[in-house]
Amino acid sequence: MTKAFTFKVLATDGKARRGSITMPRGEIRTPAFMPVGTGGTVKAMYMDQVRGVGSDIILGNTYHLMLRPGAERVARLGGLHEFARWPHPILTDSGGFQVMSLSKLRKLTEKGVTFRSHIDGAAYEMSPERSIEIQGLLDSDIQMQLDECTALPAKENEIERAMELSLRWAERCKTAFGDQQGKAMFGIVQGGDIAALRLRSAQALKAMDLKGYAIGGLAVGEPQAVMLEMLDITCPELPADRPRYLMGVGTPDDILKSVARGIDMFDCVMPTRAGRHGLAYTRRGKVNLRNARHADDPRPLDDESDCPAARDYSRAYLHHLVRSQEALGAMLLTWNNLSYYQRLMQEIRAAIEAGAFEARAAEISEGWARGVI
Ligand code: GUN
Repeated sequence: MTKAFTFKVLATDGKARRGSITMPRGEIRTPAFMPVGTGGTVKAMYMDQVRGVGSDIILGNTYHLMLRPGAERVARLGGLHEFARWPHPILTDSGGFQVMSLSKLRKLTEKGVTFRSHIDGAAYEMSPERSIEIQGLLDSDIQMQLDECTALPAKENEIERAMELSLRWAERCKTAFGDQQGKAMFGIVQGGDIAALRLRSAQALKAMDLKGYAIGGLAVGEPQAVMLEMLDITCPELPADRPRYLMGVGTPDDILKSVARGIDMFDCVMPTRAGRHGLAYTRRGKVNLRNARHADDPRPLDDESDCPAARDYSRAYLHHLVRSQEALGAMLLTWNNLSYYQRLMQEIRAAIEAGAFEARAAEISEGWARGVI
C-alpha cells in the first residue's frame, strides 16, 4: 500500500464515478458507504462483521470521543484503530455539527466554539486548531475541517455568515493539519439552500487545494429536491480528481440520486439506528419487525442475501427478539442493514464499471416499489 493519500477515478458513467482512495491503512472503493462508529463502536456490531459486510472505512466523532474517553487517553492507548480494533481507515467528523446538535450552552465565535458536555455539563473549548489536534490524537486517516452547519430553513444572511466563517476555519484547519502525507484533511462546502452561496463556498475551498471535499449542511430539514439541486450546482465546481463526500446522507434512494450527480462517499446513522429500532432494509423496501403480522412468519428477510442475519433467521424470531427488546434483535437487524447498504454500494460500483448505472438504479428503485413480499 502506498505511503501517500491518493484518489483515482477508475470509470465514469454519466456523472457517476467509480474510484479508489488509497492510503497506508488500506483502499476505499468508491462510491463508498461509511458506517457510523460515533464513540469508537459501530453500535451492536463486532468490527469483524463491519468488515465482513464490505466496509472499507468507518466514521468516528471528535465530539463524543473528546468527552469520553478523551482524545489524549485514546492516544496513550495507541490511537483509535488500536483502541477499537479496527485497523482499516477511519474518517472523523470535526465536532462542530455534533456540538450544535447535542451540547448545552454552546457559544460560537471567530475563535471557535465553547460548550458544555451533554454527559456531565463540563465546559470545553474547541477551536479549528484543537479539532485538528484531537483528530490527530485519535490518529484519524481522513480529518474534517471545523465548520458551522446551518439548520434549514434559515435566513440568507445567517447561512452566509456561517458559510464565510466555515471558509476561514477551513484555512486554519489546513494550516494546523500541515503536509501529512498518508492522511487527508477535507474542507466542507456550506451555503444552505442558496445556489450563489454554495458556488462561493465550493470555489473558495477549491482554491485551497485540499485533498478532498465534503458537502455539508444538507439533509437538515429541506426536501430531497432541494438537496439534489444543491448537488447539481456544487459538484461541477469541485475538482474532478478529488473525492466528494456528502455528509450525513442518507436513504438508499438519496444515495442512488447523489451518486448520479457525482458523489463518492456517504455516511449515515440510518442503517444502524433503524436496526436498533426494529426496522430492516431489504431489496423490497423497509420491514418493520415490530409489526404483529410477522409473529407467525417462518420466512427469512431475504433468502438470496449472503448475510446470515437476512438468510438464516425467521421473521417470526426477529419479531420476537424485537418485541422482547433482546440485544440480539438489534445485533441481527443492524447486521442485516449494513449488509444491505454495502451490497447496494457494491452493485452501484459494478453498474458504473459496466456503464449501466442508470438502468441498474431504476431496477433497484422498482424493487422497493414492488414492496415487501
Ligand atoms: N454531518 C452532517 N452534516 C454535516 C455538516 O454540515 N458538517 C459536519 N461537520 N458534519 C456533518
